Amino acid sequence: MFTNKNGILHVEEVDFRDIVAKTGTPVYITSRRLAEENIRELKRSFDFAFPLYAVKANNNLTLMKIFAKEKFGADVFSAGELYLALLSGFKGENILFNGNSKSDDEIRTGVRAGVRFSVDSIDELYSISDIASQEGEEVRIAFRVNPDISPETHPKIATGLKTSKFGLPSDKIIDAYRIALETPNVIPSGIHCHIGSQILDVSPFVEEIEKMFDIATQLENIGIDLEFLDMGGGFGIDYQNDGKCRFESFAEPVKEAFEKGLERIESKPELWIEPGRSLIANTTVLIAKVNSVKKSYHNFIAVDAGFNTLLRPAMYDAYHRIAVANRMSDEAEEVYMIAGPICESGDILGRDRELPKVEKGDYIAVFDAGAYGFVMSSQYNGRPRCAEVLVDGSRFYITREAETVADLVAKQRIPEEMFR
Ligand code: LLP
Repeated sequence: MFTNKNGILHVEEVDFRDIVAKTGTPVYITSRRLAEENIRELKRSFDFAFPLYAVKANNNLTLMKIFAKEKFGADVFSAGELYLALLSGFKGENILFNGNSKSDDEIRTGVRAGVRFSVDSIDELYSISDIASQEGEEVRIAFRVNPDISPETHPKIATGLKTSKFGLPSDKIIDAYRIALETPNVIPSGIHCHIGSQILDVSPFVEEIEKMFDIATQLENIGIDLEFLDMGGGFGIDYQNDGKCRFESFAEPVKEAFEKGLERIESKPELWIEPGRSLIANTTVLIAKVNSVKKSYHNFIAVDAGFNTLLRPAMYDAYHRIAVANRMSDEAEEVYMIAGPICESGDILGRDRELPKVEKGDYIAVFDAGAYGFVMSSQYNGRPRCAEVLVDGSRFYITREAETVADLVAKQRIPEEMFR
């Protein structure tokens, strides 16, 4: 869906310059077709599982509506994400409210919306119970288990390590469910796990499922009838090449492990998955404009998007493919550092990239920016957040307007008496 037509990047049938003329830069541009292709491929490979879209990866309402229409559930991590999910058409009963630090207000919002909870601690269990009884509701819960699995990924996005802040360790989890059984207004009905993100090898997922069934067998012994086992998200994509997730390479071993596990228990829980990145990373390109080119100790291209717009390279040393959007047919000639406009030396979008000769006024395309892109952007250095666009064939829609400097001050209040 990202093609080179006469040297110019097109998103589906749209010339990126037509979009930039309307939105300015930087801008995130998403292909609807790619999103729908990912959905189809996920559903085909994981036809034995129920997918919850991980809202944290991209909370653009138009995209979320696509997932809601495709009957996805939603994994939300805050009352804000819950609000966005309900607004986009996700049904409360298909929403799992995750999070290691939910406030009582957030819990109340969740209880009123009829969601299920992934419970991170006994303190949280009691809060849910109290609030559910005040609201006259019964709440279905899963505990988040920390399985102590170490997948090969960036340590900042591995979540099931012993040192991780999420969930309860395997050796405390059965006691937690025992407590839940005796706690009013909560119904323990699932197990939740998530071992990390951008995981390319399937074996940690298989290990995770085996560990969940170890727990499931013990839970049956204490009389819990399991409705769902939620293995979380984390399926990695190919950032080096095409940005795609090879869903089938995960699905087959996962299915085998799940079916084997089912033989160990009486109940017939559903398998839930929570993909984020794998569904949307490759749908989106970030376009930034070149403000200047210079030779220093390296060749630098200075563009108008930095870690304020796309944090991943600075935060995780993440690699994103980069091209020159208006010189797609030119041969690579130079090696460049692509620097953002932020006043920090870590503000580099790409290092040592071979690109065609770049000039001021050219445009850089940063691919696979759909997941953890806009959602992690900030106003640092007084830069308003940029626009988002959805392309549908030969049409495009501005789905989020760029902020202006007015947004930098929108919520600020100056105590005027201080300056009289
Ligand atoms: N479920 C839970 C409980 C999660 O914590 C996450 C991601 C997901 C599902 C979705 O994982 P995915 O399928 O997208 O890998 N900002 C980082 C990634 C942080 C992931 C946080 N949790 C990045 O840019 O790489």
